[in-house]
Amino acid sequence: MAEATVGGSAGAIDASELAAIGLRFEVDGEIATITLDRPDKRNAQTFATWSALARIGENLPEQVRVVVVEGEGPSFSAGIDLRMFTPEGVPGQGSFGSHATRGDESLDRGIAEAQQGFLWLRKPEIVSIAAVHGHAIGAGFQLALACDLRILADDAKFCMKEPALGLVPDLTGTKPLVDIVGLPRAIEMCLTARTVDAREALTLGLAELVVPGEELKQAVRDLAAAVLGTDRGAATATKRLLQGAQGRSLADQCAAERHEQAERIKTMFARS
Ligand code: ACO
Repeated sequence: MAEATVGGSAGAIDASELAAIGLRFEVDGEIATITLDRPDKRNAQTFATWSALARIGENLPEQVRVVVVEGEGPSFSAGIDLRMFTPEGVPGQGSFGSHATRGDESLDRGIAEAQQGFLWLRKPEIVSIAAVHGHAIGAGFQLALACDLRILADDAKFCMKEPALGLVPDLTGTKPLVDIVGLPRAIEMCLTARTVDAREALTLGLAELVVPGEELKQAVRDLAAAVLGTDRGAATATKRLLQGAQGRSLADQCAAERHEQAERIKTMFARS
C-alpha cells in the first residue's frame, strides 16, 4: 500500500484530514481501498464523510481500476451519525433541525452534495466492490448499494432503517435496491426496516458472494485480481453498455453494442 494523498488539485485531501473525518484511503497499483475508520462509533457517517468520499472520487488516481470500500472494527457502518437527530447536531456540521430551516433550495443542494459521495462509485472506468461485515445500516447499506459488487462476510446484516426514523433513503440507494430485489421486496424491506442477513442477501442478489469473516479480504483480493485480468478499455465500455441496458429497448441496446464495438475495433486494429 502507498499513496495516502488524493490528487494534487484544490480538492486534494490528505491522510490526516481523512483520519479526522474517520476515513482511510490507500492506493496499491490499480486498486484503491477506502476504509470507514471510526470503529468506536461503528463507522457512523456524517456530512464530512460524504464530502470526503466525493473528493476521493473527484481526485481518484488515473491508474485506479478497482475501488474497495470496507469498514474497520465490528461493523461496516451503522449509518448516519445519530447526533444529527439531536438539537446540538454534529460539531461543525449542524443537525437535521438546523438543516430544516435552510430553505428548500439549500436543503436540496445539501442532499445533492451528499449524494456525490456515493454516485462516483458507479463510474464505468472503475469497478467498485463493497466488502461488508457486521452491520450495514441506513447510509451504510446505501454505501454498499452504491458499489457495483458486494462481497459479504457471513455475519453481514443489511437494514434500510431510514423509514423507521422518519426519513427516506436518499443516498442513491433506492434505485439499485429496486433494480436488484424488485419493487415488492424493496417495499417490504424498507417499510418494515427489517434486517436482512448475509444468507438472505445472497438469495436476493444483494451479495455476489458470502464467505466466512476471516476470508473476506482474500475473497475481495481474488475478485479484484479477476477484474484486473480483463482489458481496461473493453471493461469500461462493457460496464457502460450493461449500465444502460435496462433503460433501453432491444433495438437501442443493439445500436449501443454496435457503437461500443466499433470503437473497440478501431482502437485495437486501426493501425494494423
Ligand atoms: N451514530 C452515532 N453513534 C453510533 C451510531 C450511529 N449511527 N451507531 C453506533 N454508535 C455508537 C454508540 O453510540 C456507541 O457509542 P459509545 O460507546 O460512545 O456509547 C458505539 O457506537 C457502539 O455502539 P453499540 O450500540 O454499543 O454497538 P453494538 O455493536 O452493540 O451495536 C449497532 C451496533 C447495531 C450498529 C448499533 O450501534 C445501532 O443500532 N446503531 C444505530 C443504527 C442506526 O439507527 N443508524 C441510523 C440509520 S438511518 C441512516 O443511516 C440515514
